[in-house]
Amino acid sequence: MKGLFITLEGPEGAGKSTQARMLAEWLQKQGREVVLTREPGGTELGQALRRLILTHPMRPETEFLLYSADRAEHAATVIRPALKRGAVVVSDRWLDSSLAYQGYGRGLPIAWLRAVSQGFLGDLWPDLTFLLYLPPRLGLWRARHRRGTLEPDRFEEEELAFHERVLEGFFELARGEPERFVKVSVEKPRAEEVHRRLVEELRARGLV
Ligand code: TYD
Repeated sequence: MKGLFITLEGPEGAGKSTQARMLAEWLQKQGREVVLTREPGGTELGQALRRLILTHPMRPETEFLLYSADRAEHAATVIRPALKRGAVVVSDRWLDSSLAYQGYGRGLPIAWLRAVSQGFLGDLWPDLTFLLYLPPRLGLWRARHRRGTLEPDRFEEEELAFHERVLEGFFELARGEPERFVKVSVEKPRAEEVHRRLVEELRARGLV
């Protein structure tokens, strides 16, 4: 069976992790081997990088290169081998997050981010990307609420304008690749409805 690479993207508080998990469970029930993974942190080294990035202030370039280090490792040791075996890979975030956050959000040149990434990703590219979106103010509220009394991470502390640039960036990326991206509003917090929408899309495309 042919491997299938699906990514979930979106701003803070979009509920990507819940949808990734529900989608992975559903795909498993269809008899597919599923690898549910995430960025940053989809490998052991990635877990350490994730802690570093989310807790240390740093230059935008450094931030991008650390996310890239995580992604290079993740692509080579988790994603590619799984696709080669014919598995479905469901990744909670991928390169599009770097383009949206470090590119559109922090202002690093998109062409540079793409060129560096091309160096280690080669022809690895998602078959389908679900962009879960909601107004940034609501997303931040949900993310902080979910975290409860824990300290917000560095991204949740950013001003609203940053998150608005990130969301606009995601939309721009989707406009550039309308075939790959499927935009799904998650403003109404009905996980089951959102899940049904994702499954419908997979079926409509004949991917399952
Ligand atoms: P995480 O706690 O996994 O957040 P979430 O549940 O929102 O996915 O932390 C990931 C944070 O890192 C999130 O705020 C988005 C950011 N990020 C980037 O800025 N660039 C990237 O390339 C990736 C993968 C994540």
